[in-house]
Amino acid sequence: MSIIHADRITKVFNPRGKGAVTALSELSLDVREGEIFGLLGPNGAGKTTFIKVLLEIVAATSGTAQMLGAPIGNSAAKARVGYLPENHKYPDFLTGAQVLRYFSKLGGLPSDQREQRITDRLRLVGMEQWHKTKIRKYSKGMMQRIGLAQALVNDPQLVILDEPTDGVDPLGRKEIRDMLLRLRDQGKTVFLNSHLLSEVELICDRVAILNKGRLIRIGTVKELTTQENTYRIGVEGTLPAELRLQWEATRVSVHEENGELVCALPDLAALNAVIDQLRSAGLLIRSVAEKRQSLEDMFIDVISREEAQ
Ligand SMILES: Nc1ncnc2c1ncn2[C@@H]1O[C@H](COP(=O)(O)OP(=O)(O)O)[C@@H](O)[C@H]1O
Ligand SMILES: [Mg+2]
Repeated sequence: MSIIHADRITKVFNPRGKGAVTALSELSLDVREGEIFGLLGPNGAGKTTFIKVLLEIVAATSGTAQMLGAPIGNSAAKARVGYLPENHKYPDFLTGAQVLRYFSKLGGLPSDQREQRITDRLRLVGMEQWHKTKIRKYSKGMMQRIGLAQALVNDPQLVILDEPTDGVDPLGRKEIRDMLLRLRDQGKTVFLNSHLLSEVELICDRVAILNKGRLIRIGTVKELTTQENTYRIGVEGTLPAELRLQWEATRVSVHEENGELVCALPDLAALNAVIDQLRSAGLLIRSVAEKRQSLEDMFIDVISREEAQ
């Protein structure tokens, strides 16, 4: 079942003015029940706008979406969503526990469950010893933890997190990742926005890549990173011009870098074919090394190809 279903969502800010900005362009995607889904993209790609459209903080210019089986805007469905906004701010004279109390009241949590739930969430995010400290004394990392506790205080079925690990130190990030994995184990669906690819790679079941409001890739991390592997081949000798032409004609991507050939190839058979061609041309192979693409490599590759168009 789709927990989020978006169908050709477009958002244009200031449509009539000179400063019209197309933040989202015909974005369609599905988030499945029980998965951790990452929406990735450079700053300004439209990630936050998409979340705001889902939560009706911003109205889409066109397109439709459903969340938890209801059209967006349905308040019963929204009550089952937890949301951590980007750069969230709470009144800084409140303590961490007071923030959670406030949000649990807003969410309609019965008062006899309230204190137990607040204690539980503070413990979950490792903030129990700071519950009486005012927010204004919190570090960025502590603010993110309280924000996460806030997003979870009403026991939501879907958790939407906008840059959850922003400003958090490496250990804190690991703890947040583990927390998200535990949420998934409990059957929750997690939708997160991030520009931190190396982290997303570690926990997301599926990811979508957004650039300038357009969806450019969607799939599992494995699907997106193993299509092309890069091999570096060290050779002795001069590369004949015919071989270059042959590669160009057959769309084999090879270029020279620091005296090595760098080839982006789909599989081992393609690598061996290139090696055979090199040896038939009288070159000697000195070394062959494989570099599997990380999500970050793939991302930079895809975005720079887009920019070049
Ligand atoms: N309220 C707004 N008015 C005008 N432009 C906006 C507004 N909010 C966002 N934008 C623009 O929309 C684009 C997408 O922004 P955003 O969704 O915040 O991107 P991201 O979260 O991926 O960094 C950017 O060009 C941004 O400047
Ligand atoms: Mg954003």
